[in-house]
Amino acid sequence: MFIYKAGVVGAGAMGAGIAQVISFSGLPVVLKDTDQERVDKGLAMVRKVYQGRVDKGKMTASEMDQKMKLVIGTTSYDDFKDCDLVIEAVFENMKVKHQVFQELEKVLPETAIMASNTSALSISQIASAVKKSDKVIGIHFFNPAPVMKLVEVIPGLQTSTETVDDAVAFVESLRKMPVRVKECAGFLVNRLLLPYLNEAAYAFQEGSAPADEIDKAMRAFGMPMGPFALLDMLGLDVCADVSMILYDSFGPRMKAAEILGEMHKNNRLGVKNGIGFYVYDESKASDLKPVVDAIQAKTGIKGTPFSPERLVFQMINEAAFCLEENVASPSDIDLAMLAGTGYPQDKGGPLHTADAIGIDVVVEKLKEFSKQLGPRFWPAPILKRMVSANYLGQKTKRGFFNY
Ligand code: 3HC
Repeated sequence: MFIYKAGVVGAGAMGAGIAQVISFSGLPVVLKDTDQERVDKGLAMVRKVYQGRVDKGKMTASEMDQKMKLVIGTTSYDDFKDCDLVIEAVFENMKVKHQVFQELEKVLPETAIMASNTSALSISQIASAVKKSDKVIGIHFFNPAPVMKLVEVIPGLQTSTETVDDAVAFVESLRKMPVRVKECAGFLVNRLLLPYLNEAAYAFQEGSAPADEIDKAMRAFGMPMGPFALLDMLGLDVCADVSMILYDSFGPRMKAAEILGEMHKNNRLGVKNGIGFYVYDESKASDLKPVVDAIQAKTGIKGTPFSPERLVFQMINEAAFCLEENVASPSDIDLAMLAGTGYPQDKGGPLHTADAIGIDVVVEKLKEFSKQLGPRFWPAPILKRMVSANYLGQKTKRGFFNY
């Protein structure tokens, strides 16, 4: 199926970023939000990305104008009537998503693909609200969408093979890297990334190390930005929503650190409103210490040791759970983390990291963390099976990969 025109519902940071990516590939794209002010804000975000390219000499001002002409701002669903594919990027509320998909189904051509950019909600549940559920699929971009190469393609229970193939071809046409992921809460990358960010939050609230030191340590490990800078960029409201969805699906091992909920409650949402773990607007500066003290008084846990492994092993363990559930292949899991989060190239991804460390060492360390920090570290069953079969990683020439 050829996509001649695309659409995006929701002109926030992700929606605008996706519209920029689509227009950059040369396709016209309709960008819709509920009122003109939001639409204009979205269009301004798209222009800002192009302006950055013009300023760096990567494109001329007239090329930018050509690209901007491809982005059609609107407040009406009627403008989607000749779109072949629409991506929904509204906030994470199932009721709202159902309304959006029902509106889309009324106006779109029969053959059109209806995609969701949801971070963690069920694609199958979203699809249940429409008749043409075979046309519904997850097409999940990563923040910032203009930069991050990865796009997860997630079929729901009702999605047809044709829709999956068309979605993959569409993502490739945007010069992004599609990875097919079996549906589960958080899909693949958020399912690995959130436990890592959550562990950083536990370390912070337990007074293991200050946020800037943890960020520095993780940059030294090779991550492009530290976990707190990333939490602030993603938005503490978004992270709280995703954490809740993960907890609901996977239970206690994904219980969110108390500080994440407190940040949301105290309206410390991150970059978007000027204050999160860091201060971006001095007029909003306030001390987090009383919040942390109150959490420590409630949990009785403080002074736990910090190490980068504490965070990385959460990612490795969840990658092993994903593998066990066939969410993706070992190479796709590693590729997705490289392209979706900037996981250090030289370490090859969390599963390659585990193979380099030694699966037996990973299991022992997870058990130790489990005793010291809590049962959320209990090793995924596949890891123990690998040890018992001498799949220890590089040292025995076979682990998640062959050497
Ligand atoms: N929009 C557009 N372009 C941007 C941008 C933005 N918001 N932020 C950075 N860029 C561009 C810069 O202009 C620059 O472009 P150039 O190569 O043409 O000069 C390029 O990206 C690199 O930027 P910088 O040199 O300023 O800084 P970095 O090299 O540190 O890169 C980063 C910035 C790409 C954000 C990098 O730090 C990174 O990869 N961070 C990790 C982000 C991540 O993990 N994202 C996934 C989060 S999970 C998610 O989104 C899922 C959701 O469902 C919650």
